[in-house]
Amino acid sequence: MAEKITQYLHETPASQAAYSEAKNLIPGGVQGNIKYYAPYPLSFRSAAGAWMTDVDGHKYVDYLLSFGALILGHGHPVVKQALTDVWETYGTSSFGVPYPLEAAMVKKVCSLVPSIEQVRFTNSGLEATLLAIRLGMAYTRRPGIAKFAGHYHGGHEHVLVSTHPVVTSDGPIAKTSESLALPDYYVEHTEVLPFDDIDRCEALLRQHREEVGVVVVEPFQSGYIPVDRDFMQRLRLITQELGMVLLFDEVKTGFRIRLGGAQAFYGVRPDLTALGKVLGGGFPVGAVGGRQEILELASPERNLPNHEVVFHSGTFNGNPVSLLAGLRTLEFLETPGVYETLLDTTRQLRENIEQISAHYGLPVQTVGEGTIFNVVFPSDEVGRMSKPSDVIAAEMSARHRTLRKDLDFLLMKHGVFSKPYNRFSMSTAHDDKALASTLDAFEQSFAALGKQQS
Ligand SMILES: Cc1ncc(COP(=O)(O)O)c(C=O)c1O
Repeated sequence: MAEKITQYLHETPASQAAYSEAKNLIPGGVQGNIKYYAPYPLSFRSAAGAWMTDVDGHKYVDYLLSFGALILGHGHPVVKQALTDVWETYGTSSFGVPYPLEAAMVKKVCSLVPSIEQVRFTNSGLEATLLAIRLGMAYTRRPGIAKFAGHYHGGHEHVLVSTHPVVTSDGPIAKTSESLALPDYYVEHTEVLPFDDIDRCEALLRQHREEVGVVVVEPFQSGYIPVDRDFMQRLRLITQELGMVLLFDEVKTGFRIRLGGAQAFYGVRPDLTALGKVLGGGFPVGAVGGRQEILELASPERNLPNHEVVFHSGTFNGNPVSLLAGLRTLEFLETPGVYETLLDTTRQLRENIEQISAHYGLPVQTVGEGTIFNVVFPSDEVGRMSKPSDVIAAEMSARHRTLRKDLDFLLMKHGVFSKPYNRFSMSTAHDDKALASTLDAFEQSFAALGKQQS
């Protein structure tokens, strides 16, 4: 590993210099804690389609895709056209007050995600889960929530509890604060559930039925780890019976697992859904959608005192840039054949990666669904992983962590970028050239990794 880091330092001096300057101006040199990796993150200067170029001039096939947001890749023509159209049609990037595109976009979202009857837009996924939780707690009039161990819902207080993956199949589940200065209230009023044991979930939810108003779940943990359909369907029934609002956080999975999101995959209708990322076509966005009866609690029309209305506002909510870029993106994904091809390309890429890794004696399993997957080195004992706890145990093992880190630095050296340890997101811009380059990089990386192991 030391050798790979030395090479990284040697080959990316401009990134290193950019970081040396940035870290004195920006905490950690990054605009978000999860964007940091040692010894320093690469700094980029431009992007086009499936490719990004770093400040040293190296080109990479991009599988981070702005943490999954860019499902059409960088600078897609329909998104560029949307920007031009915003200026030509509206003459402004923000009305700040109602205009007809808002309702048009809501209709599109409702047509793709049938559980959604009404929508409020926000500017990020974080704001979407925050508003959804507030709505759910208002609807149930209960003071707390339940979330799953290892699930991430953005950086606001109520969900900064137990976000790091832990194996929950045995023993008690620890509640952990994930930030300095997180008020005790949030840890105390958040129950933490195991993602692959529905009987334990049911027992915990029954025990806390008076306090828990909202059960929030990433329907695929970290966007790629699934549970059984049966688990999700039982979670729906239990929350219904106990009068809890079921909130699907589809910020990551929305329009990526299926066009209708993870809920289309599981065949489950949540009460509320949080959306973001893909919805904005590459611009800042979030949304809360769901049952009208719940969303209406934020309607100011009812002339109630403030404390009887769910507060929600935001200067740029529903701005034309994010909405038109998002609408055009969704329309493009609906073009016959586009989404099917994207799913097929992802499937093919996953198979090829698995085959290459096996050929070099270090078989990986690609875990995921739709257009997101991760590359995991299974532990020898478990073999092929089927449950979330198997995947998480493998990812936490020293074997995976060492091999994956080495693989990620080798892939960067050979022109593939996904940020170390991160999952892979696909885009329609990943054409034959980008895919051939990717497989070549995997071939060279696994060859080097195999040699290193023998
Ligand atoms: C499942 C999930 N929820 C919420 C968020 C927060 O979204 P944002 O980064 O837009 O605030 C993320 C971001 O990665 C996410 O993956």
